[in-house]
Amino acid sequence: MAHKSPIILAVDTSSLDTALEWVACTSKYISAYKLGLEFFLSFGGEGVRRIAEVSDAKLFLDLKLHDIPNTVAGASAAVAALTPAFVTVHASGGRAMISAAVQAAPLSDITAVTILTSLDDDDVKEIGYGAGALPSAVNLAKLALEAGAKAIVCSPLEISAMRQNLGKNFAIITPGIRPADHSARDDQARTMTPREAIDAGATYLVIGRPITQHAISGMQRMQDAAAKIVDDIYSGNSR
Ligand code: C5P
Repeated sequence: MAHKSPIILAVDTSSLDTALEWVACTSKYISAYKLGLEFFLSFGGEGVRRIAEVSDAKLFLDLKLHDIPNTVAGASAAVAALTPAFVTVHASGGRAMISAAVQAAPLSDITAVTILTSLDDDDVKEIGYGAGALPSAVNLAKLALEAGAKAIVCSPLEISAMRQNLGKNFAIITPGIRPADHSARDDQARTMTPREAIDAGATYLVIGRPITQHAISGMQRMQDAAAKIVDDIYSGNSR
């Protein structure tokens, strides 16, 4: 691979063996593996260590921590031993909570989730963010970065506003990515292609099914799908 991959693979499976197989076959093309709550609650720290054994790629622990600062500090310290490159927290937990996570896991990039992209403007207002999704997401990202977060998670449609308002000195990680040739219709509605998201200013792209759905046709097909996305990003063919 001539270029460093910006892909974070969403390891969304309830089988540890499947996860290990996916990781082993894609790791040449993947920057980090995203292990979420389902994985962590099913397989715990031991499962995370098993994944780390089969790949040199980074680990993205998507635990979306959200509690009082003392509790989040304890949780962050507990997972710090697994040396994840990224650990997610909800930005809405506030400045002190984010700062507590940063201090408790100094070797990980604390990554703040802004507004969940599953929420539309009406949902966001109903929760109490009167300004709506985009301004609220930018505001939460600003707060999180001031508190020491190194990265934020947002919708691809929010990337430009994040860069315009908050600059370049932090990583933007975005799900909702669909290659132009991805034909399967699924639950991602407001999407961008990998190349569009990178051009808009994303640092990393969280991608799951556009790669993992090919496992059904064999590991080589899955690896090819990952390789093609990386190629498309750098050759500009994904538009
Ligand atoms: O398969 P797909 O590419 O849709 O996977 C995207 C990953 O990003 C999933 O793990 C999903 O839970 C996660 N995610 C998302 N939208 C968010 C936050 C996380 O799709 N707002």
